[in-house]
Amino acid sequence: MNAIAALRESRRREISALMSRESTRAALAVHGSPLLVLDPDRVLRQYRRLLNALPFIRFHYAVKALSHDTVIAALADAGCSFDVATGEELALVQRHGVCAQRVIHTHPIKKASEIVEAIEAGVRTFVVDNEVELDKFTDAAAGVRVLLRLSYPSPHAKSDLSSKFGVGPFEAERLVRHALGRGIHVAGFSFHVGSQLDDPDRFARAISDTIALIDDLEARLGVRFGVLDIGGGFPVPYDQPVASIEEVAARIRPVLEPHASRFDVIAEPGRILVGDCMTLISSVVGIAERGDGRWYYLDDGLYGSYSNVLTEDVHPMIFAERELHGEGPSHRWATLAGPTCDSTDVIAREQLLPDLVVGDLLISPAMGAYTTVTATRFNGRPFTPIAVIEAEPIGATPSSVRVPDVAREPAIV
Ligand SMILES: Cc1ncc(COP(=O)(O)O)c(C=O)c1O
Repeated sequence: MNAIAALRESRRREISALMSRESTRAALAVHGSPLLVLDPDRVLRQYRRLLNALPFIRFHYAVKALSHDTVIAALADAGCSFDVATGEELALVQRHGVCAQRVIHTHPIKKASEIVEAIEAGVRTFVVDNEVELDKFTDAAAGVRVLLRLSYPSPHAKSDLSSKFGVGPFEAERLVRHALGRGIHVAGFSFHVGSQLDDPDRFARAISDTIALIDDLEARLGVRFGVLDIGGGFPVPYDQPVASIEEVAARIRPVLEPHASRFDVIAEPGRILVGDCMTLISSVVGIAERGDGRWYYLDDGLYGSYSNVLTEDVHPMIFAERELHGEGPSHRWATLAGPTCDSTDVIAREQLLPDLVVGDLLISPAMGAYTTVTATRFNGRPFTPIAVIEAEPIGATPSSVRVPDVAREPAIV
């Protein structure tokens, strides 16, 4: 079996188990389709893997990836720190009792009022990448520190974050001097290698380039930098295998670990923590034969939970519930379209599926990151509800299983 087929088989087994869980069936019975099923245990499992693989790093979950209360609560209880990009995300983590010392504000461009509010709330670490932004910190409260965001182009990342934000290493000195001239404390540097980047070497190179830059600036400017923030970027296996947490760690650990006593090393993982925690269940609402073959129209699409396909060009696997049980010997190539009137709203072409009828369920794993948070209400469609499932109690009978909590709206969009 090749690697893609093996991944598909393991995803098939995973969603087969999820679909047979009593709590999933109960949520479907109550709420119907479309439905996102959220398993917080998967978030915690990923967090533990990160901690085991890179024990000298402090992880700040990038709330933007999935701002659901259950995820925030689970990570907060587990001791994870947080990365926020807005005052709303800050308020969300604080509602879960997270103290501001565990929060960094990483949006390089902020309204002055937002900076003031974040400082009043207790946040002390901010990311900056230009002089105008630095000037907003001139009169900041004592103890505030900034990290300068560097940019490393990553054309192979699904989302290359280097053109909108960050300065090249050669511009960093100018910014440090600007800050020093205004009495602003530059604590260190941050970067983001690009989201969904399946290239551990690129990650390692960005780390070693940043350490070299720090060495150079420390020697020439006579200052010390104590923080190295390596951002996010760990990839999730959607339609093909990618480097695992352990594989990325094996590549970057030798570069980072020798500096672990010199720097406070932090990271801002988003996708890797929540990518696998949600599964989308949608259903067929219409079927048409067109010039290019069969089309199935679903009740969720690119303007809803499959927004990751639209905004990031990722391709989650899609299974028909029928094929989970080995049904449907006659497979055919089909196009899957979303429910809106827009012809862009095509989720996948050339999907090999058993013959489906209206009402059949389709299931996509790995729908946790950048899905519901970037969904819209285009065509007046409501957000897909999220049902939180709990660990299956051992020996549970149907009557002892709780109907899951359902958040009808994403916490923050
Ligand atoms: C500043 C910052 N940090 C962290 C993240 C999370 O990245 P990822 O989901 O790739 O881990 C992002 C994603 O856009 C980001 O912009």
